[in-house]
Amino acid sequence: MVKLHDLEFEPYLDQKTLQKSVKQLAERICADYTTKTPVFLGILNGAFMFLSDLMKYYEGDCEISFTKLASYEGISSTGEVSTLLGAGNLKGKDVIVVEDIVDTGNTLEHIVDVLKNEGVASYKIASLFLKPEAYKKTLPIDYVGIEIPNKFIVGYGLDYNGLGRNISEIYQLKSNLND
Ligand code: IMP
Ligand code: MG
Repeated sequence: MVKLHDLEFEPYLDQKTLQKSVKQLAERICADYTTKTPVFLGILNGAFMFLSDLMKYYEGDCEISFTKLASYEGISSTGEVSTLLGAGNLKGKDVIVVEDIVDTGNTLEHIVDVLKNEGVASYKIASLFLKPEAYKKTLPIDYVGIEIPNKFIVGYGLDYNGLGRNISEIYQLKSNLND
């Protein structure tokens, strides 16, 4: 059990499960990009740990960049997405967006608009987690690690109001408080 601010979280996914999923994603992506040098575009802050492990398992040539967006306050999406740090020049690049988790999809929709305006050669989306029940968009998510129920999780880069990103496993909000 961990307590972050006012809420209690219980263990949900262990390191072995996470590493297995990240390794599989890296191998799938690598197989699809044998003739290309993709740019992995990490969405800060949440994706930093996932991207770091993904890169350790990725055996082809690739570049890495980051952009910073914000849509969440507390444990729910505000619906408004703002860009806090631009991605740099991605014109003509084959971009793979790396997200920690896709919830409503607002963040993704925003980043895809940005990529189209930048004139990228292609883009795909990789997310370690997807909450299918919360996802409201039609945009395909090309690489999904683990589908989870519509519960709030922390750890492995994901936070609750800034805390919990450094926990190496995934914890979920204690169920009696979550319903
Ligand atoms: P969306 O824009 O609603 O898809 O939300 C995506 C972003 O919200 C993610 O990149 C996370 O930063 C954050 N988020 C969504 N669900 C969770 C969660 O369960 N725990 C922590 N952060 C979350
Ligand atoms: Mg995020």
